[in-house]
Amino acid sequence: MSHKIAPSLLSADFLNLQADIEMINNSEADWFHCDVMDGSFVPNISFGFPIIKQISKIARKPLDVHLMIVDPDKYIARVKDAGAYMMNVHYEACTHLHRTATAIRDAGMKAGVTLNPHTPVSLLEDILQDVDMVLLMTVNPGFGGQKFIEHSLTRLARLKEMILKRNLRTLIEVDGGVNLQTGKRLIDAGADVLVAGNAVFADANPAEMIHKLKSIV
Ligand code: DX5
Ligand code: ZN
Repeated sequence: MSHKIAPSLLSADFLNLQADIEMINNSEADWFHCDVMDGSFVPNISFGFPIIKQISKIARKPLDVHLMIVDPDKYIARVKDAGAYMMNVHYEACTHLHRTATAIRDAGMKAGVTLNPHTPVSLLEDILQDVDMVLLMTVNPGFGGQKFIEHSLTRLARLKEMILKRNLRTLIEVDGGVNLQTGKRLIDAGADVLVAGNAVFADANPAEMIHKLKSIV
């Protein structure tokens, strides 16, 4: 199966979001990546459920919602109602991660667990079988356009080994500083889904950049 591309709307033109959503609809992208920030878990505030709900009305691809917020458990029903396909919560924000992942699946969504760059992938050993995806942060969460953290490749390789060793189908998504160069290295190390914000939207031809990211072999 070829890798998926999830453009991050954080870097889209909020004054003309519809045009960027249509561009993604008509591109080779697989998912819409929606970054929710609360100003507490991360030092930035982005957008919330009403915006995601509007996006879902015209998006023709699944919504991959990345919650950079404290207490994500509180919002499972809201995220579902906003139209999410995948709900990603941070490991660092969930005291009862197994309970949270189970509740996300019970609500009818796929469950993703996200790791900050400093959180050891080995901590996922006993939850891997109960989530659909691991979202590996390859920058510190909070902002688009940051520099890729090199050590992420070692983490990714370790995580891939854990998944393959147990014959699990858990996907690995990578998020932060992904471009054609880092994207290629991440795919080689086992990434299944590439999130790309700045690389797509700062390009003169975003749809063409999505095509190039999708064509990485
Ligand atoms: C950062 C967000 C990312 C962000 C990625 O906290 O989770 O999804 O949009 O942006 P780029 O691809 O520009 O690093
Ligand atoms: Zn994200």
